[in-house]
Amino acid sequence: MEINGNKKSESGENELIDIHHVVAADVITGANKGIGLETARQLAMIGVTVVLTARDEKRGVEAAASLQEMGLCNVVFHQLDVLDPHSIASLAKFIEGHFGRLDILINNAGTLEVRVDEDALRDLKMDPATWLSGKAANLVKGVIRTTKEKAKECLNTNYHGCKRVTEALLPLLKLSTSGANIVNISSLRGELRHIPSEQIRKVLGGIDTLDEEKIDGMLERFLKDVEQGALEANGWPNMLPAYSISKATLNAYTRFLANKYPNMRINCVHPGYVRTDLNWNTGTMTVEEGAKGPVMLALLPEGGPTGCYFDQIEKAEF
Ligand SMILES: NC(=O)c1ccc[n+]([C@@H]2O[C@H](COP(=O)([O-])OP(=O)(O)OC[C@H]3O[C@@H](n4cnc5c(N)ncnc54)[C@H](OP(=O)(O)O)[C@@H]3O)[C@@H](O)[C@H]2O)c1
Repeated sequence: MEINGNKKSESGENELIDIHHVVAADVITGANKGIGLETARQLAMIGVTVVLTARDEKRGVEAAASLQEMGLCNVVFHQLDVLDPHSIASLAKFIEGHFGRLDILINNAGTLEVRVDEDALRDLKMDPATWLSGKAANLVKGVIRTTKEKAKECLNTNYHGCKRVTEALLPLLKLSTSGANIVNISSLRGELRHIPSEQIRKVLGGIDTLDEEKIDGMLERFLKDVEQGALEANGWPNMLPAYSISKATLNAYTRFLANKYPNMRINCVHPGYVRTDLNWNTGTMTVEEGAKGPVMLALLPEGGPTGCYFDQIEKAEF
């Protein structure tokens, strides 16, 4: 397997680096397109051995082939559906058999799970600032809808899916010789300031008091309120509520995990407003720009920050 790559030296010259001894393998979930695929490309370019995963075998094989055709022979494909425990177990077995350990895990797979009238959304001609500030919540009410089933699917992928994959791969991450890096791809929608309820903010923002039961309990309350049409009354986010809560809980889980495993670097990141299928290609940034934060966090050296939230490449408030 080719493991050498190029990086820019301080003088701007390309120099060859060999990081094979440092990074045995990097797993990226949901990497057949969008930010995941570009993150795979950027990491493979500097010599990291990338296990590109996708839930759909054909889409994943094609994506891996597109990188291999660029000369990136250090990219291998393995199927992974974050909703399917068998698929996750099969990936863990593959990593164990081929690499013996895991140095980097990027939990990128994500979904909005909403019903959208795309034409009506386009007709709103919403500018990015309005969209990002969340002021659009009322405008999009008739255009973007959610149901309890869709909300469940969203939480199941973005929060439980990340947790499932992480738990299955933790035994291999613990074997990393330099302390593994885990990167959870979050969103600014998950920032606590977007949650009107002070009580919910307090629970999810608690550093020493946070545990998995509290996070799961919060999600049960959320789903009950979706069913009873009580989201607004109980202070849940107005804009893309299920997606926002899935990312807020993902951030909380990141903190919890970082406390539990101080030898690793475990962080979450908002990649920016990136033009991908997730936002019907309304984003303003390219995938190249969007992958910068995930790549930076994947390569954090020993002693680097952990338990932090980044807005692209800058540390930010949860
Ligand atoms: N784009 C943005 O502006 C933005 C902003 C903030 C955060 N993010 C986050 O960035 C991450 C990547 O999103 P993106 O913008 O690159 O969107 P994208 O192009 O739609 O990519 C999402 C990826 O997740 C995969 N996925 C969905 N459900 C999955 C499952 N059950 N198992 C495995 N993979 C699954 C998709 O696979 P399929 O192709 O099979 O559907 C796809 O590969 C997400 O976590 C998203 O929430 C994006």
